[in-house]
Amino acid sequence: MSSWLYTALGYTDKEKDARKKAPTKRDLPQTPFTMDEVKQHKSTASCWIVVENRVLDITAYIASHPGGDIILDGAGRDATDLFRDVGHPQDAYDVLDDLQIGVLVKSKAAAAPQPQPHADAAPQQ
Ligand code: HEM
Repeated sequence: MSSWLYTALGYTDKEKDARKKAPTKRDLPQTPFTMDEVKQHKSTASCWIVVENRVLDITAYIASHPGGDIILDGAGRDATDLFRDVGHPQDAYDVLDDLQIGVLVKSKAAAAPQPQPHADAAPQQ
Protein backbone atom coordinates (compact mmCIF):
# COMPACT_ATOMS: atom_id res chain seq x y z
CA MET A 1 0.00 0.00 0.00
CA SER A 2 1.42 3.43 -0.81
CA SER A 3 2.15 5.80 2.05
CA TRP A 4 -0.48 8.37 1.05
CA LEU A 5 -3.09 5.66 1.35
CA TYR A 6 -1.94 4.77 4.87
CA THR A 7 -2.34 8.43 5.77
CA ALA A 8 -5.72 8.67 4.03
CA LEU A 9 -6.91 5.65 6.03
CA GLY A 10 -5.82 7.34 9.25
CA TYR A 11 -3.08 4.88 10.28
CA THR A 12 -0.53 6.10 12.84
CA ASP A 13 3.18 5.77 11.99
CA LYS A 14 3.42 2.80 14.37
CA GLU A 15 0.52 1.03 12.62
CA LYS A 16 2.06 1.71 9.23
CA ASP A 17 5.35 0.08 10.33
CA ALA A 18 3.57 -2.94 11.79
CA ARG A 19 1.68 -3.50 8.53
CA LYS A 20 4.79 -3.18 6.41
CA LYS A 21 6.64 -5.69 8.60
CA ALA A 22 3.81 -8.25 8.68
CA PRO A 23 5.43 -11.61 7.82
CA THR A 24 4.64 -13.13 4.47
CA LYS A 25 5.08 -16.71 3.27
CA ARG A 26 8.41 -15.70 1.78
CA ASP A 27 9.78 -14.93 5.25
CA LEU A 28 9.32 -18.49 6.52
CA PRO A 29 12.57 -20.34 7.27
CA GLN A 30 13.94 -22.11 4.18
CA THR A 31 16.83 -24.04 5.78
CA PRO A 32 17.22 -27.30 3.84
CA PHE A 33 16.85 -30.58 5.81
CA THR A 34 16.95 -34.14 4.54
CA MET A 35 14.61 -36.89 5.68
CA ASP A 36 17.59 -38.51 7.44
CA GLU A 37 17.91 -35.40 9.60
CA VAL A 38 14.17 -35.26 10.30
CA LYS A 39 14.28 -38.91 11.48
CA GLN A 40 16.74 -37.96 14.23
CA HIS A 41 14.01 -35.88 15.89
CA LYS A 42 11.22 -38.22 16.90
CA SER A 43 11.18 -37.92 20.69
CA THR A 44 9.21 -35.53 22.86
CA ALA A 45 12.58 -33.91 23.74
CA SER A 46 13.04 -32.92 20.10
CA CYS A 47 10.25 -33.63 17.69
CA TRP A 48 10.17 -32.71 14.00
CA ILE A 49 7.50 -33.52 11.47
CA VAL A 50 7.13 -32.93 7.73
CA VAL A 51 3.90 -31.57 6.26
CA GLU A 52 3.77 -30.65 2.58
CA ASN A 53 7.59 -30.54 2.30
CA ARG A 54 7.82 -28.13 5.20
CA VAL A 55 9.97 -29.18 8.17
CA LEU A 56 8.26 -28.28 11.44
CA ASP A 57 9.59 -28.39 14.99
CA ILE A 58 6.53 -29.46 16.99
CA THR A 59 8.37 -30.08 20.30
CA ALA A 60 6.75 -27.16 22.11
CA TYR A 61 3.42 -27.60 20.33
CA ILE A 62 2.71 -31.26 21.26
CA ALA A 63 1.20 -30.33 24.64
CA SER A 64 -1.19 -27.80 23.11
CA HIS A 65 -2.23 -29.79 20.01
CA PRO A 66 -6.06 -29.88 20.11
CA GLY A 67 -5.99 -33.45 18.76
CA GLY A 68 -3.70 -34.57 21.61
CA ASP A 69 -0.73 -36.95 21.54
CA ILE A 70 -1.83 -38.55 18.27
CA ILE A 71 0.27 -35.87 16.61
CA LEU A 72 3.24 -38.04 17.68
CA ASP A 73 2.19 -40.59 15.03
CA GLY A 74 3.90 -38.17 12.64
CA ALA A 75 7.07 -37.75 14.73
CA GLY A 76 10.25 -37.82 12.69
CA ARG A 77 8.51 -38.54 9.41
CA ASP A 78 6.45 -37.20 6.55
CA ALA A 79 3.00 -36.72 8.09
CA THR A 80 1.42 -34.97 5.10
CA ASP A 81 -1.18 -37.71 4.59
CA LEU A 82 -1.95 -37.99 8.33
CA PHE A 83 -2.35 -34.22 8.51
CA ARG A 84 -4.60 -34.04 5.45
CA ASP A 85 -6.70 -37.08 6.41
CA VAL A 86 -7.81 -35.33 9.61
CA GLY A 87 -9.18 -32.48 7.52
CA HIS A 88 -7.39 -29.85 9.59
CA PRO A 89 -9.01 -26.41 9.22
CA GLN A 90 -7.22 -23.19 8.16
CA ASP A 91 -6.32 -22.53 11.83
CA ALA A 92 -4.01 -25.55 11.73
CA TYR A 93 -2.30 -24.30 8.56
CA ASP A 94 -1.66 -20.98 10.32
CA VAL A 95 0.07 -22.90 13.12
CA LEU A 96 2.32 -24.59 10.53
CA ASP A 97 3.71 -21.16 9.65
CA ASP A 98 4.75 -20.65 13.29
CA LEU A 99 6.40 -24.07 13.57
CA GLN A 100 8.33 -24.12 10.29
CA ILE A 101 12.11 -24.40 10.71
CA GLY A 102 12.98 -25.26 7.11
CA VAL A 103 12.09 -27.22 4.01
CA LEU A 104 12.59 -30.83 3.00
CA VAL A 105 15.24 -31.57 0.36
CA LYS A 106 16.28 -34.88 -1.16
CA SER A 107 19.94 -34.19 -0.54
CA LYS A 108 22.05 -31.32 0.71
CA ALA A 109 24.11 -31.36 -2.48
CA ALA A 110 21.03 -30.54 -4.54
CA ALA A 111 20.05 -27.72 -2.18
CA ALA A 112 23.49 -26.11 -1.95
CA PRO A 113 24.20 -23.26 -4.34
CA GLN A 114 26.29 -24.45 -7.27
CA PRO A 115 29.86 -23.08 -7.19
CA GLN A 116 30.24 -20.30 -9.71
CA PRO A 117 33.58 -19.64 -11.41
CA HIS A 118 35.07 -16.38 -10.18
CA ALA A 119 34.80 -13.57 -12.69
CA ASP A 120 38.58 -13.09 -12.59
CA ALA A 121 39.35 -16.79 -12.92
CA ALA A 122 41.85 -17.62 -15.63
CA PRO A 123 40.17 -19.23 -18.63
CA GLN A 124 40.57 -22.99 -18.64
CA GLN A 125 43.18 -24.27 -21.11
C1 HEM B 1 2.27 -29.61 12.93
C2 HEM B 1 1.27 -30.42 12.68
C3 HEM B 1 -0.13 -30.22 13.23
C4 HEM B 1 -0.78 -29.07 13.58
C5 HEM B 1 -0.26 -27.64 13.55
C6 HEM B 1 -2.11 -29.46 14.02
C7 HEM B 1 -3.08 -28.58 14.47
C8 HEM B 1 -4.35 -28.91 14.84
C9 HEM B 1 -5.40 -27.99 15.17
C10 HEM B 1 -5.27 -26.46 15.20
C11 HEM B 1 -6.49 -28.72 15.47
C12 HEM B 1 -7.88 -28.16 15.88
C13 HEM B 1 -8.77 -28.22 14.69
C14 HEM B 1 -10.15 -27.62 14.89
O1 HEM B 1 -10.23 -26.53 15.46
O2 HEM B 1 -11.11 -28.26 14.49
C15 HEM B 1 -6.15 -30.10 15.33
C16 HEM B 1 -7.01 -31.16 15.54
C17 HEM B 1 -6.69 -32.46 15.33
N1 HEM B 1 -5.48 -32.96 14.93
FE1 HEM B 1 -3.86 -31.88 14.43
N2 HEM B 1 -2.24 -30.80 13.92
C18 HEM B 1 -1.05 -31.31 13.43
C19 HEM B 1 -0.75 -32.63 13.16
C20 HEM B 1 -1.58 -33.67 13.37
C21 HEM B 1 -1.29 -35.04 13.06
C22 HEM B 1 0.02 -35.54 12.44
C23 HEM B 1 -2.38 -35.76 13.40
C24 HEM B 1 -2.63 -37.22 13.32
C25 HEM B 1 -1.71 -38.12 13.39
C26 HEM B 1 -3.36 -34.85 13.95
C27 HEM B 1 -4.59 -35.20 14.45
C28 HEM B 1 -5.58 -34.34 14.86
C29 HEM B 1 -6.90 -34.75 15.26
C30 HEM B 1 -7.42 -36.17 15.31
C31 HEM B 1 -7.60 -33.58 15.54
C32 HEM B 1 -9.07 -33.45 15.90
C33 HEM B 1 -9.30 -33.29 17.33
C34 HEM B 1 -10.79 -33.12 17.58
O3 HEM B 1 -11.49 -32.55 16.74
O4 HEM B 1 -11.22 -33.57 18.62
N3 HEM B 1 -2.86 -33.58 13.91
N4 HEM B 1 -4.85 -30.20 14.93
